[in-house]
Amino acid sequence: MLLTHATLATLTDGYGLVADAAVAITGDRIAWTGPMAELPAAFRAWPETDAQGRLVTAGLIDCHTHAVFAGHRAVEFELRLKGASYEEIARAGGGILSTVTATREATEEELLAQALPRIDQLIAGGATTIEVKSGYGLTVADELKMLRVARRIGQSRPVAVRTTHLAAHAIPPEYKGRAPAYIAEVALPSLRTAQAEGLIDAVDAFCEGIAFSVNELRPLFAEARALGLPVKLHAEQLSDLGGAAFAAGCGALSADHLEYLSPAGIAAMAAAGTVAVILPGAFYTLRQTQAPPIAALRAAGVAMAVATDLNPGSSPLASLTLAMNMACTLFRLTPEEALLGVTAHAARALGLPDRGRIAPGLRADLCLWDADHPAELSYRIGATALHKRIYGGRLD
Ligand code: NIG
Ligand code: FE
Repeated sequence: MLLTHATLATLTDGYGLVADAAVAITGDRIAWTGPMAELPAAFRAWPETDAQGRLVTAGLIDCHTHAVFAGHRAVEFELRLKGASYEEIARAGGGILSTVTATREATEEELLAQALPRIDQLIAGGATTIEVKSGYGLTVADELKMLRVARRIGQSRPVAVRTTHLAAHAIPPEYKGRAPAYIAEVALPSLRTAQAEGLIDAVDAFCEGIAFSVNELRPLFAEARALGLPVKLHAEQLSDLGGAAFAAGCGALSADHLEYLSPAGIAAMAAAGTVAVILPGAFYTLRQTQAPPIAALRAAGVAMAVATDLNPGSSPLASLTLAMNMACTLFRLTPEEALLGVTAHAARALGLPDRGRIAPGLRADLCLWDADHPAELSYRIGATALHKRIYGGRLD
């Protein structure tokens, strides 16, 4: 396929804009890209798709979602509006644990049926790669069930799915006050089985007062690394427990949320090349007031990704462009940083060097937008400007 007359944002150097450009695609890869005027003769006869001047970016990458879960938490949303906090609800057995109850009761088929419409919304907004975490099962069998559903999403829809083991998301009631026993008896065995069954690409945990401390997570991350799996961490979302520095010390791909990130945490992330995943949907939903230290992350040269954190509690958000808008308006990312955050930097956060930019040899995952400037993607609030997607070299 030959895509012609595109306003390309290659994302290779900032936006990497190329006016009136072409992209030659063979199989699921980009073979050539550059200005129309320089198109090699060999590609000229290839079947043409005319972008008619539209903005074309790499396909969007949502590098942090909890898209597999049962039910919803609209009632909790109401409780928060009446004054209860996210942490109070969690400590009273609601929050993540109410989704755990519903998810344990659901069959694999039911979970898949409930997840697919959320995935379809992300795809309709331009996503071509989506990360999906477990973490609402919290038994060995239920964590594995969630991960099988996550894998099935990638077989059911034209989207690449990366799965993440997140058994260390919350402490279920049967282990209340016994976090180390939960890690030893559920998190570690489910991790080993999930890895043996090819169900996971990475390991994540929730480091927070209402979840796990750094010390409680050490055995889990040690095991992940022994199994050759990359780690990442929900860190410094509601308080500073030193999670980001711990994750960076383990060579983490990313540390995510980061509202309460300290200067020491920033330095550790910069030294390790750990990506900062910014999740404005959760900040917005929980009406947090302390924003992540964006200017300091920028100054330290830490790559920033932006994701939806799609989940039933803190971020019922299924639009990457709305996440970009929120990242700009709430956190002062530039539209260029926001776009890099859902493409090149999101790819880094998932350890996927074969996507997130437009260059020869990379996957042919592209978005054609009803837009002519990349800042438009961040500027409109909740608009779906997607014209068409090309996923793995195929036009939707
Ligand atoms: O990323 N912070 C922990 N986990 C999710 C919230 C999950 C939930 O509330 O169900 C998050 O915000
Ligand atoms: Fe999350």
